[in-house]
Amino acid sequence: MPMNIKPYNEKLVQLTQLLNDGQYHDGNILSQTLGITCSTIRKMIEKLKQYGVAIDSSQNNRYLLSEPLILLDPASIQKSLHYDVELTVLESISSTNDYFKLSEATPHTILCCLTEQQTQGRGRLQRVWHSPFGKNIYLSCYYPFQKDIRALAGLSLVISLAVLATLRALGFNDGMVKWPNDIFYQGKKLAGILMDVQTQPQGFSMVTIGIGLNVNMTARDELAIDQSWTSLREESGASLDRNYVVALLLQHLLDYVHRFAQEGFSVFSEEWAASDSLLHQTVTLDYMSHHISGEAVGINSKGHLLIRFPDESVQAFSSGEVVLLKK
Ligand code: BTN
Repeated sequence: MPMNIKPYNEKLVQLTQLLNDGQYHDGNILSQTLGITCSTIRKMIEKLKQYGVAIDSSQNNRYLLSEPLILLDPASIQKSLHYDVELTVLESISSTNDYFKLSEATPHTILCCLTEQQTQGRGRLQRVWHSPFGKNIYLSCYYPFQKDIRALAGLSLVISLAVLATLRALGFNDGMVKWPNDIFYQGKKLAGILMDVQTQPQGFSMVTIGIGLNVNMTARDELAIDQSWTSLREESGASLDRNYVVALLLQHLLDYVHRFAQEGFSVFSEEWAASDSLLHQTVTLDYMSHHISGEAVGINSKGHLLIRFPDESVQAFSSGEVVLLKK
């Protein structure tokens, strides 16, 4: 499978750090400071422009970054993380969920991959996940569970609760979950989760947990998204340092996933109910080519959606796409 991996480029990160003051910078001085040739500087500037970064290079050998851009910095993320994970930061890849397809299953090591851009970012139900360079968080973790696949029911819901907890830690208090694992903010999609499970012959499971969180994307960056979306920047008016956001996200993710591994799903039921955007709403569920309508009345102990029908009977559904009919 072609993954089109472009590895992390430390000089590119340093170049953007130098350019980040909103001033014009001379190519010769940049080249001396970074210890690389002027031609390499020019190539890196061209590359950033191709990635969609707004840089003014109209003045001879002088460059201005029109908007602040803080690229991901593995050292700073690792420093603020209290868990032992093997972290890889890339410049670009097809999808971070692909990164582990060739990895060995590791019963005791957590691998994580972040990238600045995904060329084939994927959402649930074969959707595209828009992944512009340097704007958002595209994170996947390869997590070993000492359990078989049946014990993982509810995990994707727990991951969405971890994302909500991260948002609260950042001061964004109005996040809601839409079963099974969409994260909405003020009614617009802010983050999503794509999970993949591989059962290992030794009796444990490797789970790929993919999380996309819109951080600094603005309406100018992405006009092609076919659903109503938002980003932390759109909500707050300020751009955020993604290194800080990623460290918080990983911290919460691993806290929640470890707790799930030890205690199962039931300990999260109340937290789910407090953020469940579908609770007591009339919904239609697309389930195995059927449209099923009724009132969403929460989830069961496995994380399955409960729908109450007009005759008061309640049925649980393990998968499907929910459409909200009326508020
Ligand atoms: C959805 O809500 O449809 C799920 C979106 C998941 C997006 C993330 S970004 C990191 C990882 N890599 C992908 O290609 N998808 C997930």
